Amino acid sequence: MPGSREPRRRRFLVCEPRHFAVRYAINPWMETGRPVDVLRALDQWQALVDAYRAHGHTVERVPPVAGLPDMVFAANAAVVVGGRVFGSLFLAPERRAESLPYEAWFKAQGYEVQHPESVCEGEGDLVPAGRWILAGTGFRTTVAAHREVQEFFGVPVIGLTLVDPFFYHLDTALFTLDDGTTENIAYYPGAFSPGSREVLARLYPDAVLATREDALAFGLNSVSDGRHVFISPRATALAGRLAARGYVPVPVDLSELHKAGGGIKCCTQEIR
Ligand code: ARG
Repeated sequence: MPGSREPRRRRFLVCEPRHFAVRYAINPWMETGRPVDVLRALDQWQALVDAYRAHGHTVERVPPVAGLPDMVFAANAAVVVGGRVFGSLFLAPERRAESLPYEAWFKAQGYEVQHPESVCEGEGDLVPAGRWILAGTGFRTTVAAHREVQEFFGVPVIGLTLVDPFFYHLDTALFTLDDGTTENIAYYPGAFSPGSREVLARLYPDAVLATREDALAFGLNSVSDGRHVFISPRATALAGRLAARGYVPVPVDLSELHKAGGGIKCCTQEIR
């Protein structure tokens, strides 16, 4: 019922896009050498941080490193559940060096970091969803990494196969709306293999389904606190469906970061 949804306070880890650029192309959104407006990226990113804080969430920052233009996409660096950190091993050699500064941040905070043995891109492909972890594969994170994640956390990992290169990470095609007492998600079915679509329909008969337009507008790269959904302002159909279910869309425009294939969720790692 509209108005009755309860937000849960979150702790987010982010990284300022001071060194943001599109210098290589590792997904279909990226065009090598395409100019980016770093000041605009910084402004848009700051608006996201401000929106989180204005809604009661804690935001922590990893210092950005020069020469790592994708480091702003904090979600990819690890997945943290119950204070246990499973780090990252990027597929693209250009991104491999990002894992270290994030690991250093966690270690300085007193966390131990488990290193993946197989390619694993953190919350980009691993979406903790209450009783289980939804795990994408097909482009980046491997099935071997899914097994490592299940073994490390002792939480069931549900593998989902991504089939559309525009939605190369699970968090570009699906996000959790609630992970507390009610567990639900929003997703774009066309991003998944037929079998994975059936799995999602079985697990989430009440899911909010998004159109391809919503997905291309980075509408599924959203962050929900259980009530507020921080969402791309271009995903209008999806925002309407969410509002009809009692969620409160909070539009945040990260169009400059879309040039690298990332949006709101990509810029946000949750420390659980
Ligand atoms: N350029 C980055 C890459 O292709 C974008 C990562 C976006 N992050 C995400 N969680 N989907 O790896």
